[in-house]
Amino acid sequence: MNKQICLATNNKGKLREYREILAPMGFTIYSPADLNIDFDVDETGADYRENSLLKAKGLRKLVPFPVIADDSGLEILALDCFPGLHSSRFAESMGGYPKAYEEIFRRLEGKDRSARFRCCICYLENEDSKPLYFEGFCPGQILNAPHGTNGFGYDPIFHSEEADIDFGVASEETKNAVSHRAKALQKLKVFFAIG
Ligand code: IMP
Repeated sequence: MNKQICLATNNKGKLREYREILAPMGFTIYSPADLNIDFDVDETGADYRENSLLKAKGLRKLVPFPVIADDSGLEILALDCFPGLHSSRFAESMGGYPKAYEEIFRRLEGKDRSARFRCCICYLENEDSKPLYFEGFCPGQILNAPHGTNGFGYDPIFHSEEADIDFGVASEETKNAVSHRAKALQKLKVFFAIG
């Protein structure tokens, strides 16, 4: 198996998380920036799988080795899994995360606050290979008000059931023990270990 992989992100936090798990297995994980590639893909897929595949295929054309791409979002159950696939775009459309939090609190008045983060990782060995998918979920509750500034995106309004902590005050290590991305990544790790 090729031990060099390019990860379809320029997010340093994600890159660190992937490297932490896969480097001990002998993998070298590059970002597009490491390879001087200017990488951007329109996330026009109908679900997380399609978006992760769009990113993986887009990147695989540009690099000489296998790629990993992921797509993730926050799903609020009482709002039919909103903002879901549009998590990032929703925050942008509101003029930033603090405004998005307010709008979510407004929509959730009197409703159940159960939610989950969700992540789908796509691994694509060659351009014409069958894509492989690995998914992870992180269940919790939407808080009544933002708490803390740790993490990113919707972390300040999310309480993790499994870690029993608000992500806005959780350390990276605590979050990575239960996060949707870490769980999907663990499944990928098992695939690499036995595959
Ligand atoms: P992407 O998978 O990098 O496209 O991220 C999608 C969006 O989902 C992010 O920009 C955030 O708004 C949200 N999101 C995904 N994972 C997390 C997380 O771990 N914490 C907070 N927000 C997240």
